[in-house]
Amino acid sequence: MDKKKIRKIQKKAQKEIKASKNLTDLNNVFKSYLGKKGELSEVFRFLKELKGEEKKKVGQMANQVKNLIEEEIGKKSKKIRKTEKKKEKEEWFDITMPGKEPVSGHLHPLTQAMRKIMDIFKSMGFEIINGPQMESEWYNFDALNFPKDHPARDIQDTLFIQQSEKERAGPKQRLLMRTHTSPVQVRYMEQNQPPFRIIVPGRVFRHEATDARHEINFYQVEGLMVGKDVSVANFRAVFEEFFRRFFDKKVKIVLRPGYFPFTEPSFEIDCSCPICGGKGKCSTCSGTGWLEIMGAGMVHPNVLKAGGLNPKHWQGFAFGGGVDRLVMIKHKIDDIRLFYSSDLRFLNQF
Ligand code: FA5
Repeated sequence: MDKKKIRKIQKKAQKEIKASKNLTDLNNVFKSYLGKKGELSEVFRFLKELKGEEKKKVGQMANQVKNLIEEEIGKKSKKIRKTEKKKEKEEWFDITMPGKEPVSGHLHPLTQAMRKIMDIFKSMGFEIINGPQMESEWYNFDALNFPKDHPARDIQDTLFIQQSEKERAGPKQRLLMRTHTSPVQVRYMEQNQPPFRIIVPGRVFRHEATDARHEINFYQVEGLMVGKDVSVANFRAVFEEFFRRFFDKKVKIVLRPGYFPFTEPSFEIDCSCPICGGKGKCSTCSGTGWLEIMGAGMVHPNVLKAGGLNPKHWQGFAFGGGVDRLVMIKHKIDDIRLFYSSDLRFLNQF
């Protein structure tokens, strides 16, 4: 054992102390140099075999290196403890603090209402049916017994699809954006035999000036029930049950005679204006005190025929309600345009 070897041990230990990242590393360095079987402890054991001056010199040097390693380990250990404490402080958090609620969206009030309407009718045995938003003139008007010169067909009310002369050769080929959900009545009758009861929720389009209760695009829900002896009394029972469950409270409703080419007799169902309390003093009801929410009637024999059913054997009722208007009444909303404004101050209230 010579001084050179002890120096080598010293340098190696210093290098390892420097490279230590935590207290475990440092402990391992201590063990491998100053532990029972450590490299420096070996040197002290070896001293026994030396004599005189040499023993003294090697002994002194080994002691110096031992002290140096101990000192450096001590310093490094202090440094590691300090940084660990700092890190702990920075990473500490209070687990008793209330959490931050994540911002989550919700369904649009019209979607919520459509789902509620569907649930109510489903529980009364109605099946949910969908139809196309782009429809043929035949299903939207002709099959529903609209006379050829009916004003609703006019370009002022109906959004026709641009087509070439050839493309719109027949009424079944002439395309438009459906103005109501009623065309699905005939589409369904063509494919199904009564008795049946269906509900058709969907978007409809009308080319008209917008105001507090008119939109160019809005939602309707159509109902159709056909059987051997379905009557106006059945209609009354169904719609009274629907209104009771949809509004969760009593609302004033009137049934007055109306006119639709596809029903006979026909009714209009109005609800007292929730904004002015039926006093007729606001723009939502145009000063009438009432809001028209639904059209209805007994299915016209010509419509049953168009759907391939024999009117001598089958009869039924149909109705079509404005979903937007129903929601306006339920939540006292004074302007239909709010539904389509994407204004979160409005939407977040539902
Ligand atoms: C119809 O659309 C008929 N298809 C309803 C019907 C079906 C009658 C089956 C008989 C049998 P009407 O055009 O009245 O009818 O519209 C029905 C409902 O849609 C109205 O009562 C109203 O609530 C709503 N509505 C009509 N036009 C608009 C509009 N521009 N904006 C918002 N809602 C409207």
